[in-house]
Amino acid sequence: MTPVPSGFMISEEEIRAKVRELAARINADYKGRSPLLVGILKGAFVFLADLIREMDLPVEVDFIATSSYGHSTESTGIVKIIKDLNQNITDRDVLLVEDIVDTGLTLRYLYNLLLSRNPRSLEICVLLDKKERRKVEVPVKYVGFEVPDLFLVGYGLDYAEKFRGLKYIRALSPEEVKGG
Ligand code: IMP
Repeated sequence: MTPVPSGFMISEEEIRAKVRELAARINADYKGRSPLLVGILKGAFVFLADLIREMDLPVEVDFIATSSYGHSTESTGIVKIIKDLNQNITDRDVLLVEDIVDTGLTLRYLYNLLLSRNPRSLEICVLLDKKERRKVEVPVKYVGFEVPDLFLVGYGLDYAEKFRGLKYIRALSPEEVKGG
């Protein structure tokens, strides 16, 4: 296990600066195009909302929802689609937007699923990357922060549906995990 650096946190200011930086890269890469941003519910909704407001492209937005960890902090490896996209993505420039990539199982599954629908292009943007936890390779093009192996909450990320509204991101303490 990784030693737990107590009080790990990413501030509101750091997040804002990073979202601007990512949006600038995406604006440049997709210049003259109208990408469809696909947010993965629920965790990505805060990040996606901020990201599109920093972009100057005529973007469209859709959402896809997978089954969550429930009240656990571990992925089961079983990915189930709870809500599919509302639109056809054939020949579209699709950018999958996710809050965090951990084992990679969720994104790997969704990436393959969307690829099978023949988009014009398909890329992935994540705010947080827990790289050391990866079990399967995922082609993530845009990464906000590489983060340590801690359970993080805030800015859309939850633990048992709590903490999504925090303006910053912080690690959950072992006491909070035990206490539920
Ligand atoms: P993966 O399939 O293991 O890569 O997990 C991705 C999903 O797990 C994300 O969409 C999150 O919902 C959830 N997740 C992974 N790590 C964390 C965390 O530290 N805090 C909150 N949710 C997490």
